[in-house]
Parts: sequence; structure tokens; C-alpha cells
Amino acid sequence: MSVLRIAGGSRLNGSVRVHGAKNSVLPILAATLVGSGESVIRNCPEIADVEAAFNILRHIGCTARRDGGEVVVGAADVTGCEIPHSLMREMRSSVIFLGAILGRCGKAVISSPGGCELGPRPVDMHLAALRELGADVSEESGNIICRCGRLRGAKITLRLPSVGATENTMLAACFADGTTVISNAAREPENSDLQSFLRELGVSVYGAGTSTVTVEGNRVKTGAEHRVIPDRIAAATYACAAAATAGDIEITDAEPRHLASVLSALRGMGCAVSVSHDRIRIAAPEGLSSLPPISTEPYPGFPTDAQAQLMAVSLKAQGTTSFIENIFQSRYAHALEMRRFGANIKIEGKVALVTGVAKLAGAPVTAPDLRGGAALVIAGLSAEGITEVSEPSHIDRGYECIESSLREIGADIERI
Ligand code: UD1
Repeated sequence: MSVLRIAGGSRLNGSVRVHGAKNSVLPILAATLVGSGESVIRNCPEIADVEAAFNILRHIGCTARRDGGEVVVGAADVTGCEIPHSLMREMRSSVIFLGAILGRCGKAVISSPGGCELGPRPVDMHLAALRELGADVSEESGNIICRCGRLRGAKITLRLPSVGATENTMLAACFADGTTVISNAAREPENSDLQSFLRELGVSVYGAGTSTVTVEGNRVKTGAEHRVIPDRIAAATYACAAAATAGDIEITDAEPRHLASVLSALRGMGCAVSVSHDRIRIAAPEGLSSLPPISTEPYPGFPTDAQAQLMAVSLKAQGTTSFIENIFQSRYAHALEMRRFGANIKIEGKVALVTGVAKLAGAPVTAPDLRGGAALVIAGLSAEGITEVSEPSHIDRGYECIESSLREIGADIERI
């Protein structure tokens, strides 16, 4: 079992590149099934969740080969329509393959994603949307079974602007006869990136990035070429690491427009932030201030996926910062671990109150989940002494070798 060993106290300094977005590339890999030939995906991050998506594609008969950041997926022969529990367990967001497999094969079977480290992870909106497109959906002994003849376009209103349900519906709608209109759609940049890929495949789809997405099915090419957008959450993580260590770094290959809410929070704490078209420079002072309440919201609000990392920054900020987690029920497991560093955090339901302390002391901690694990790394960088973060495999799901990226900007961190 490996651990990330951090000697805290270095001020981060230098330049770090951001890889392609995990949450874009996963639905785009599912979307390769909309084409009947080869698709080329560039800026594809080398992370565990992408490997899990390749395993699903290969399991159902596709090919997937990587050459550095470029991936070629062959979707000419789809021979299976079931994702077994062993593959679902590797990545719960595999549910994103449901709509595409159903549309392509007329049947899709996945094991139910169930609960996870962030609390219950229902997929009712995904299933309701597929039913509205004409699928017959049943749940039997832990499996979700979807069958359809021809899917038909429909007007679908999501109960919440779910990122995954929007994407699954867009993918299934590509195979439907007629027009599908999704209302209360998620507006995340990753939804827009999926739309860009689908357009390159020849699908007539528009509106992503707004609350209404329209898809006209059934006119596609065999494959497409696409460059994945930068990972805004990885960029937010490095920005928070600089802020927590009084650092001064440049983040390259980023998309600053996708990070407005996070950069605004860091400015509010006293950091100097400047942006150019694909770069972010962040210089942090020694003492940071607390912030007005941070509420996680759907995009363009503050992202739930950066809540833990900003909390790590607030641990030593002067005053009290309250965090209100509105997206997931149980997303404070990192806060319990942060107390081991000497952090002062009170949790009441969906609110976490963080009162800054003068010093943090390095400690052995366990990564509870992907972003919570990254936040513990940030806390360890700003703590005095040695921190060991165990179960770094959670972090590897979404970061390309986080220790190498952080070492490039002066962190004393190694995997042992
Ligand atoms: C995606 C991201 C994840 C991010 C989340 C919110 C990917 C691969 N993952 O997850 O990193 O944290 O968006 O920005 O893109 N919900 C239901 N029923 C459903 C679907 C969702 O009740 O059928 C609820 C969820 O429990 C949650 C909320 O809707 O409370 C939003 O979840 P959703 O936007 O669907 O998140 P994911 O797509 O799973």
C-alpha cells in the first residue's frame, strides 16, 4: 500500500500544467459509441477513471489505444451491452455509458451504482429520462436493465440540473427519431464539451451551457476528432495549494473562465490573481482572511468538487469561514481527517464552520475520496512537519500523478 509523504512548509513557486478534464473525457468516451468507426480524443488525461472507461469500452467490444495524451477509440463492433459489477465498482460514473449503449444496442444492463463515499448516488433522473425516450427500464437483483425498440425524441424536464443525467439523455437522444429538448439541463462546461464532440460527430445538438439543450437524433459520421477542455478542478486544486502555502505559481493550459467562482473566492481571501487566455497566476500573502459563506451550487456557482480544497486553504485563514454543501449529502469526510492536523472545524448537517488556527501540524491521514484526498495533500503542504496521506488511489482517479505536478512547483512530496 503506497502513501503520499509530504514535508510541509515549502512555499510553492513555478509553473504547473493542467491536464484534460476528467469530467469531460468520461462522457466523451461514452459518446464515441454514437459513431460507428474511430474517434480520436486529444488531451486525454492519464488517470485511473479513464482507464476504467477504457475497460468498459473494451468489455463491450470496442478498441481503445493510447499514445501519450492522444487516444483512439474504435467503435465499429459493439458486441456486448452489459457492464458487470466489477467494472461499475471501479468508477460509479460508469452510469454515463447507459444511454449510449442502450441507443446503440437496444439493450443495456449495468449494476446499480448504489451509494458511495459522497452519500447516496441516485440515478432516478437518468432512468426517468430514458423512459421518456421510450425505453423500458427495470431493476432486478442489483442490476438496471434497459431495453428499447426505436427511441423517440421527447421533451424532458430534469428535477435537478444533474450533470450526468443531462449527458446520459443527450447521448441516448442521439439515437432517437425526432427532436429531444432537455429543460433544467446542467450548464457545466463539461456538458458543452460533450456537445462539441457530438457536433464533430455530425449530431445536431445545441444549447449546452444554457438550461435548455436540444438534440436532433440520427445523422452521424463514423468518428470525430476532439481536444478535451482543461480540467477546471485540477486547476482549482493547484490554485488552492499555492494559496495555502503563501506561494506564487502560474497554472498553464487552463481555461480561466471556467474557474471564475473559485478565483473570486481566492481573491477574497487576499490572493493576487491574474489571468490571460490559458494561464492563471496566483500569488498568496502569508496571512489569508476568512470568506463570506461558501455555498456549493451548480455551475456557474462554486463547485462542490472544489469545496474540500478551499476548506484546506481556510484552515489557517483569520476568522471563521462557513461552507454550505448543497450538492451532495455526505461531503465532509475530509473535514474529519483535517482535524488531525489541529484544524478547528464544526459540522452541523450541510454546514461546516472552519475557524482558522495559527499553525497546523503534519499528521497521518487517509484520503476519503478523490477531492477530499487532494484537499488533505494541500493541508499537509501547509502544515509543519511530516504528513502521510494513505489510500492515494482515490486521488489517482482524477489527477495525473499529483506528486510530480506538485514537485514541479517546489513541493516536498513523494510516493512511498
Ligand atoms: C458530476 C461530476 C462530479 C460532480 C457533480 C456535481 C462527472 C463524472 N462527475 O457528477 O464530479 O461532483 O457532477 O457537480 O461529471 N441526483 C439525483 N438523481 C439523479 C442524478 C443526480 O437525485 O438521477 C442528485 C445527486 O445525488 C446530487 C445532484 O443530483 O445531489 C447533482 O448530481 P449530478 O450533477 O448528477 O452529479 P454527477 O453527474 O453524478
